[in-house]
Amino acid sequence: MSKQVTLLMCSPRKKQSASYSLGSYVTSLLEEKGITAKIFQIYNTLRDSDKIDEMVKAIDASDILVLSSPLYVDSAPFMTIKLMNLIAKEKQEGKIRKKERLILAISNAGYLEYFHNNIAIRIYEQFAKENEFTWAGGLPIGAAGMYTSMSISDFLKQFEGLPEEDPRHEYFCKPARILDFVIKTSVDYLSKGEIVPRDELQKLEFISMPLQAYADGGNKNWIGWAEQLGTKDKLRDKPYEVKK
Ligand SMILES: Cc1cc2nc3c(=O)[nH]c(=O)nc-3n(C[C@H](O)[C@H](O)[C@H](O)COP(=O)(O)O)c2cc1C
Repeated sequence: MSKQVTLLMCSPRKKQSASYSLGSYVTSLLEEKGITAKIFQIYNTLRDSDKIDEMVKAIDASDILVLSSPLYVDSAPFMTIKLMNLIAKEKQEGKIRKKERLILAISNAGYLEYFHNNIAIRIYEQFAKENEFTWAGGLPIGAAGMYTSMSISDFLKQFEGLPEEDPRHEYFCKPARILDFVIKTSVDYLSKGEIVPRDELQKLEFISMPLQAYADGGNKNWIGWAEQLGTKDKLRDKPYEVKK
């Protein structure tokens, strides 16, 4: 029987999310290695008892779990916590039987710096330990919004043909290539039933661009959206202040 992986995709943005784009990339690479993948979108699954049963059975049958979640307020979002509580309960009740199972967590932060994810990843590691899953490692993704609605390869395609000295190669393409490399390396280890070595995961511990460039990019988008909506001249409005 072939090995099985279950992706627990924890973003309310569903297929438009970084959690889906990166999580499903991991499972598609595992599929290429002959591992059968099942994907559960937690915001749908946890609202439907039949889907919960299906997910619990998939986890029980799985050799690998991939938990891919956004980072909310430096931590795990409510629905991700609800999912972990549910799995812990099902484990205690014997519906998820004892078996050698690896779990890889992907934590997707909006801010530039990878380290905002550190607490969430430690929570996922603790969850793994408490439930007798083998902690395979955590991927701390900074500026994960880059991969929203887009695969890493589609993301990189946008910059093809730029002159060599263009800073976007350094700010955007370099981190995307490192992430691609770390994901592929992680998949190699997972497919062999092994945990991902710490020094491979640490390759994601870098700041991809100067903070000012990140802020400038954010402001450019913000002003662009306001222009499209015809509200550019209202950006500094303070409607909550009482006019005297
Ligand atoms: C309620 C809320 C809280 C958030 N808190 C943080 C945060 O503390 N740190 C951070 O870097 N990003 C934060 N973000 C941004 C998300 O982590 C970021 O957009 C992430 O890429 C979303 O992942 P997704 O596309 O998989 O939903 C927050 C977003 C929301 C909606």
